[in-house]
Amino acid sequence: MNVAIDGPAGAGKSTIAKIVAAKLGSIYVDTGAMYRAMALYLIRQGLTPSDEDKFSETCKGAKISLRHEDGVQAVFIEDENVNAYIRTPEVSNMASVSSKNADVREKLVSMQQELAKTTPVVMDGRDIGTKVLPDAEVKVYLTASVECRAKRRYDEMMAKGEACDLKKVEEEIADRDYRDMHRENSPLMQAEDAVLIDSTELTIEQVADEILKLCN
Ligand code: DC
Repeated sequence: MNVAIDGPAGAGKSTIAKIVAAKLGSIYVDTGAMYRAMALYLIRQGLTPSDEDKFSETCKGAKISLRHEDGVQAVFIEDENVNAYIRTPEVSNMASVSSKNADVREKLVSMQQELAKTTPVVMDGRDIGTKVLPDAEVKVYLTASVECRAKRRYDEMMAKGEACDLKKVEEEIADRDYRDMHRENSPLMQAEDAVLIDSTELTIEQVADEILKLCN
């Protein structure tokens, strides 16, 4: 069985997808990490977000792969595990621009489809139910209000001792939603046959239980 979980940034997709994958004995695939690794590769090739005309050619040389050990996903560029480098603001910013490119998407989508052919997956992203795995047995569109997602992100950063401004986090999340939902290639949207779960008033366990019920 394949499970597709899509939704906007900060809705809790990865936390919940990991729990669901562990309960089902499936592999968790974080497709956002693949877009981030591609962004890191493009940066290392000397490109910036304003070099959009060079993304198609340059992405061809990227050798990105995923490996799983004890349920933990590592993303590799060639033989280097780049997990530690893909969550910086610079990479987030580049990924949000380079993920719009049709050639970048084609390359990563076919890798994601190959993975799901060989093993049961719980895959999260923006276009899994609509594009990557249109035949997934369970599809979920997981969302939460902008205020709630911003508050969660704010609490996470404060817990790490990183000072930030709640209003600014809210604005960044709203901007990212707009970009993800209005791009030309595979915009974020709920698949017709996806179940909508709004996690604003729910705990992580409640959301995971609801998805496991759908799987059962
Ligand atoms: O989920 P995330 O923040 O790690 O995703 C990083 C970027 O990649 C973000 O800008 C959205 C994009 N993305 C995408 O376009 N399609 C996916 N399936 C997953 C992520």
